[in-house]
Amino acid sequence: MKGHVPTPDALVDEMVARLFADSPPSNRDRLLDPGCGGGAFIAGVLRWCQARGIQTPQITGVELNPALANKARKRFADFASVQIVHANYLFSAAGRPFTFIIGNPPYVSLVNLGDKKQRDRYRARFATARGRFDLYILFFERALEDLADDGRLVFITPEKFLYVSTAEQLRRLLMSDAEVHAIDLVPEDTFANFTTYPAITTLHKGQSADPQTTVRLRCGARRIISLPTEGQSWWPRLMEEVPESESARLGDVCVRISAGIATGADEVYVQDINAIPAQLRVFAKPAIAGRDLALDAPLPAPRRAILIPYSENGDLLPSEKLGPLGSYLSGSSNAAALRRRSCIRRKPWYAFHDNYPTDILRPKIVFKDIAKRPYFWIDRTGGLIPLHSVYYIVPERDDQLDSLCEWLNGDQARRWMLANCQRAANGYLRLQSSVLRRMPVPASALRGGS
Ligand SMILES: C[S@@+](CC[C@H](N)C(=O)[O-])C[C@H]1O[C@@H](n2cnc3c(N)ncnc32)[C@H](O)[C@@H]1O
Repeated sequence: MKGHVPTPDALVDEMVARLFADSPPSNRDRLLDPGCGGGAFIAGVLRWCQARGIQTPQITGVELNPALANKARKRFADFASVQIVHANYLFSAAGRPFTFIIGNPPYVSLVNLGDKKQRDRYRARFATARGRFDLYILFFERALEDLADDGRLVFITPEKFLYVSTAEQLRRLLMSDAEVHAIDLVPEDTFANFTTYPAITTLHKGQSADPQTTVRLRCGARRIISLPTEGQSWWPRLMEEVPESESARLGDVCVRISAGIATGADEVYVQDINAIPAQLRVFAKPAIAGRDLALDAPLPAPRRAILIPYSENGDLLPSEKLGPLGSYLSGSSNAAALRRRSCIRRKPWYAFHDNYPTDILRPKIVFKDIAKRPYFWIDRTGGLIPLHSVYYIVPERDDQLDSLCEWLNGDQARRWMLANCQRAANGYLRLQSSVLRRMPVPASALRGGS
């Protein structure tokens, strides 16, 4: 079903409450749900009115998919005030203006929007059908046309229209025809299996001399701002982003941003932490692999350990000083595995594939270099060795760990990574250290002292 993503009831109720926050509906008002699907918002409006003993407005749901339109029709068959229209909302006949419009328009990007003829039809009809537009952008434009003067609209859509250049015309339109009362950035897991970064927009048709917008960020911060009027990205205003020229680069404020240890033979050097024989424990350090790190979960207790043939200052131990580790490494299958590595053409047979950095045992921030969503953890004691699938960042000062990690996990840093890092397969991001070094970091992320 093209663009069908049902809205959870709790979110529907929150949006309906916003729709009627300033003025409850009367039975003379008209309310529209464009792309109504099975009728989640219509049911929410009925719930809201019933709970308050208020007469329901005249409700129209428009749905393109015949099966969903039928489902909604059956669901509301007993409600004379509800009418379900099976139509393409974007080209449907203009109804009378609606006092209220609420919905979750379809997210369908240009590439999935049928053939060239159909795309040209959208381009000819909608001023916002520019570049690689998405259907929800056109729903905004059409809904603004259908909204009565003074009418109120609440939509949940991807947040992208707040900043992508494709949505410049929409931003201009929203500022010229409406007052944007609120923008709420809601959690990215709102639509269970559908990863998007959703935003709820609440607006009012008409203009005021000094429009103010209440912004709620995912971290819980709330502020009141004035949005730019000329179609520029709204994002810097929303985030109060520090201009790049006023901020440091991550690479300038960290002593290291790199991949963890590459041994070239983890099957020899890395073992279950509880299985390290007593005589080798002196060479072992707790280690962490990418698969040990779970999104939003704390840094786990180490399950594995790495045997390190290097001294504290990073020098490879001479073979005669290896003692029991030398005996273990030179055992026949281990020695064979170590000698198969290409690095031994230029290094002793028991050296790691990459050099052993001494700052790896400092307090640091660790992260997976390939991630669906970037996420950063603190290794506060500095006792963990990141293996090759884990990257690490060592700030200049240990007391900057918390503020830097908090900032890296925040919206502004994530936005930068989404815009600047390469995509791997399946929508994963590749957080290369060379790219991260260029990331602008505001002074607040390096405040220290925590
Ligand atoms: C994101 S879903 C939301 C469904 C429902 N409003 C909800 O929140 O649960 C968008 C809906 O718009 C419908 N749709 C897609 N293109 C449409 C169009 N051009 N006109 C009307 N409905 C459309 C889809 O079939 C889908 O049911």
